[in-house]
Amino acid sequence: MGPPGGLACDSCHHEANFDPARVPGHPQWRLAPAEMAWQGRTLGQVCAQIKDPFRNGGKDMPALVKHMSEDSLVGWAWSPGAGRTPAPGTQKAFGALVKAWAAAGAACPKS
Ligand code: HEC
Repeated sequence: MGPPGGLACDSCHHEANFDPARVPGHPQWRLAPAEMAWQGRTLGQVCAQIKDPFRNGGKDMPALVKHMSEDSLVGWAWSPGAGRTPAPGTQKAFGALVKAWAAAGAACPKS
């Protein structure tokens, strides 16, 4: 499924945020596949899905930690451009939390 008119994302989304038009950008800008959607799912379901290589793009735990703590596409959430609220904290702090969670066994909430 694509945007209206079948235009590729990068027709409008470029290498970087374009603040005058509020268009977010990144060199890798793309939509996550449908199986990665979080909408309507509980914390426990999102957690299980994040850890499942069949639904997380084939990542094991070290790859997952690297993705969350270093991938600049994930990092976009902390510099989303004009008119958007950045994710709380920093990607570095988030990475440290994810590393600690993984090292402690990466438990998921029950629901
Ligand atoms: C015809 C131009 C155009 C195309 C093609 C397009 N977008 Fe956008 N997109 C925009 C504009 C303009 C905005 C900013 C809207 C705003 O917040 O005012 C935007 C915003 C977004 C946002 C941020 C939404 C938010 O809540 O802040 C996401 C995510 C996004 N686009 C993803 C995509 C993806 C993925 C594709 C390709 C599948 C795509 N867009 C294709 C023009 C486009």
